[in-house]
Amino acid sequence: MPTVAIGLQSPRSFVRRNHFTLGISVEIKHFLLGLTVSVSVLCVGGSALFAADSVQLGQGNLTAGIPGASTTSKLTVAEIKKFLDVPANHLELTVTLPEGLAAGSDALFIPTDNPLTRAKIELGRQLYFDKRLSGDNSISCADCHSPATGYGANTQFGVGIKGQKGNRNSPVSFNRILSKAQFWDGRAATLEDQAIGPMANSIEMGGSHDAVVKLITASEGYRIQFERIFAGEPNIGLAGKAIAAFERAIVTGPSPYDYNEPVRRMLESFPDELDDLDSLEKEDPNLFAKFSKAKKGAEANPMNESAKRGRDLFFNQKSNCSACHVGANFSDELYHNLGVGMAVAEPDLGRYTQTKVDKDKGAFKTPTLRNIAQTGPYMHDGSQNTLEEVVEWYAKGGHPNPHLSDKIKKLDLTAQDKTDLVEFMKALTGPFPLVETGRLPE
Ligand code: HEC
Ligand code: HEC
Repeated sequence: MPTVAIGLQSPRSFVRRNHFTLGISVEIKHFLLGLTVSVSVLCVGGSALFAADSVQLGQGNLTAGIPGASTTSKLTVAEIKKFLDVPANHLELTVTLPEGLAAGSDALFIPTDNPLTRAKIELGRQLYFDKRLSGDNSISCADCHSPATGYGANTQFGVGIKGQKGNRNSPVSFNRILSKAQFWDGRAATLEDQAIGPMANSIEMGGSHDAVVKLITASEGYRIQFERIFAGEPNIGLAGKAIAAFERAIVTGPSPYDYNEPVRRMLESFPDELDDLDSLEKEDPNLFAKFSKAKKGAEANPMNESAKRGRDLFFNQKSNCSACHVGANFSDELYHNLGVGMAVAEPDLGRYTQTKVDKDKGAFKTPTLRNIAQTGPYMHDGSQNTLEEVVEWYAKGGHPNPHLSDKIKKLDLTAQDKTDLVEFMKALTGPFPLVETGRLPE
């Protein structure tokens, strides 16, 4: 028997000033087929239109947790039920990216079998911060990818259960919505696959998938969320889907670079027009308004002169950084050998371990450079502590080895050039969304 639930609400995105707004969501769920169909009807000023929930990632309360008393208290079953009963929390989200990152919207990847919803992102948030997913209740994803340390960790290697160290540096878990293959060597094809790895990794969370499923099943708060969100029994694959959904919602907001770039571009395209703003205001009010707005943003989020010079260096042939750190997320999502870690007898062979192709020996995935100032130490082996050290590495042409990328060559950089590159990278720092780190199910 299909059941029909009708709920009344006034979702935030639908509320307009001076308009009478009423949102009605109808949900039809067929238990035998496991099908859920949600239709949201919206009436604004009397006329009805269909609406999906459209959000800009990084804004609003997507990752702020189910509202409640305090940030550390447990989520009660009653609070969870109330949240699950709001139909809007189950609408498929249509997402846009923040300014800056939005330039990469073409590469935005959400698997068709794992659409984003508010409820799924919230469930993923809980799992991400829950230490009970580890073998001895001591480690969560956030121990190595904490919002407090830019979603990476400030240790050379990941430090897992019982203080055990791995052999690679913790990369960042944000802006994953622009990235498909995960890990330094790309061995996980999707974020969903990646997310379930650490739980059963003996030196990371040291648990087992069975134990995680048992925990979820034993906790009523978790169980009802899985049942409602996935229309099925909890299993490890679904936990991976929820965590991946949460990670996709963690994106970097606009940085000083993103605020200054539009001004730079306009000045480059319209040098004469923008030279005389008084005439421009009369002759091309549109361009004038656009420029004034961009300029205001840039003034409120300044880039110093050194960073501006660094921007030009970064993108030009002289330093060639954008040969690999390209696009809105500053990564080509490919694998390159810079010679990092290659000076030892048995180096980590990186991408080669997956492909067994010779040229991939010692090649690692190009990391994003967004918010890079917050996420040292650097490189797959955490061997470089500062951005200054990284720039020196590139300046000397990496470490010679038979598989060094042909894009890595000795650079002719002055001391000022090096400082400028570092200043530019610092200007790539933008805000993270509001994230609740506590409030987990009882
Ligand atoms: C003990 C520390 C530790 C824990 C706990 C941990 N990670 Fe990681 N994470 C790492 C390290 C180290 C890597 C890189 C490993 C590699 O490339 O071989 C990594 C890689 C990743 C990546 C790939 C990023 C990229 O750029 O390819 C993501 C995403 C990620 N972790 C998310 C998670 C999630 C989700 C959890 C919890 C389920 C988790 N991690 C738990 C240390 C940890
Ligand atoms: C051939 C492609 C390539 C070029 C060119 C390149 N990078 Fe990289 N970059 C990478 C790869 C791959 C890594 C990770 C290497 C590793 O860990 O073995 C990396 C790592 C980094 C890191 C550390 C990131 C982290 O999270 O650990 C920074 C910072 C960086 N690059 C900045 C630059 C700058 C600045 C330039 C220009 C001077 C540059 N890159 C040129 C591919 C490249």
